[in-house]
Amino acid sequence: MLKTISIIDSKNHVDEEVKIGAWLTNKRSSGKIAFLQLRDGTAFFQGVVVKSNVSEEVFALAKEAKQEESIYVIGTIHEDTRSPFGYEIEVSGIEKVGESDNYPITPKEHGVDFLMDHRHLWLRSKRQFAVMKIRNEIIRATYEFFNKEGFIKIDAPILTGSAPEGTTELFHTKYFDKDAYLSQSGQLYEEAGAMAYGKVFSFGPTFRAEKSKTRRHLIEFWMIEPEMAFMHQEESLEVQEKYISFLVQSVIDNCAYELNILERDINVLKRYTELPFPRISYDEAVELLQKSGEFPDVKWGEDFGSPEETYLAEHFSKPVFVMNYPKAIKPFYMKPHPTRDDVVICADLLAPEGYGEIIGGSERATDPAFLEAQIEAAGLNKDDYQWYIDLRRYGSVPHSGFGLGLERAITWITGEEHIREAIPFPRLLNRIYP
Ligand code: 4AD
Ligand code: MG
Repeated sequence: MLKTISIIDSKNHVDEEVKIGAWLTNKRSSGKIAFLQLRDGTAFFQGVVVKSNVSEEVFALAKEAKQEESIYVIGTIHEDTRSPFGYEIEVSGIEKVGESDNYPITPKEHGVDFLMDHRHLWLRSKRQFAVMKIRNEIIRATYEFFNKEGFIKIDAPILTGSAPEGTTELFHTKYFDKDAYLSQSGQLYEEAGAMAYGKVFSFGPTFRAEKSKTRRHLIEFWMIEPEMAFMHQEESLEVQEKYISFLVQSVIDNCAYELNILERDINVLKRYTELPFPRISYDEAVELLQKSGEFPDVKWGEDFGSPEETYLAEHFSKPVFVMNYPKAIKPFYMKPHPTRDDVVICADLLAPEGYGEIIGGSERATDPAFLEAQIEAAGLNKDDYQWYIDLRRYGSVPHSGFGLGLERAITWITGEEHIREAIPFPRLLNRIYP
């Protein structure tokens, strides 16, 4: 019996005869030899079929094989120092499994809309493979980090009656005879979790009915939201930078093959593991932008746009925390500044290379009366938030938390241009297919 292996395990089977289930991504052949480009979801490598070494039937199967046809290949693994993967298979047998006629994504260039319409197939391509593998590593490392740091995962509901991040971006749905919304953020529930279990995190899908059509916005995205009791904002920033550094280091350590496919420079990534990350206040950020001469219209009190965020992070060539934004442009739950009533205790982490905000976080307000007033001022119904205010009525403690946008982090770490690449089936302003 032949051993069936995955391409990624080739290194453990050099000079052995094995069997591999694979798809054909591409092919080159002459009268005497055929080169089959193979993938099996673990890696990509080449099968070499030499006419004089195989039966006529096997050589015909190789010559006639079509793009994305599925096959079993039988052969001997060899080292192949010329390829980045390092191994190939010298094919002795081929068994056809599934036909593939006129695969729509050919090696020629295709437009983005065409590719997005074929996302279910496009995911098979090499770059997409590499990004999805890195996504998986970032998810794996997230669980490792928070478990190691003593957090427990508390799952927040997806169907909610609350609007943590403002009312304009809510996805409305009926909940039997009541109204409900798809979760914008699990934060409020994580605050309850932190009061119950100390250090908690959620990791789930979140929804924003944002009419933004940019390379940074998804309608449905995944967020990691840690929340920590007995913790002020300064310590929360330390957790955040340690977490980001850990994610980048994990990708460097475990995804060298994928980073190579993406041509992502590891030396650039290494810089992002060096702590601490710089911290500046919103006030200083406005001043920096004004002094640069590039942003004559920037005024104190306004949120930054992409060009401003890009400038700030490039200025430090590392992720940078921008702290204490104006109260008027931030959500209701943020803790007021002790000596200034125009700013709140919060920070956004801006990624370099033009990727913008990857984390938003803050210390949370603890005064019930203040929160009730804030909730009303935000146009929300305070009856819906009594459970949230209860957290301040019964053993309230200083607490802080943050949210990392998973796909923003992936786009940045992989160096992709558009956030649609960072999620298997992106939901965009004009797209819910496939
Ligand atoms: O800054 P945001 O809106 O913060 C919150 O939701 C807080 N409740 C988090 C917390 O403190 N627990 O979102 C957090 C992060 C952003 O920094 C960004 O990375 C990502 O979520 N994000 C988006 N990612 C993709 N598409 C969108 N439309 C996004 N909106 C926010
Ligand atoms: Mg934000």
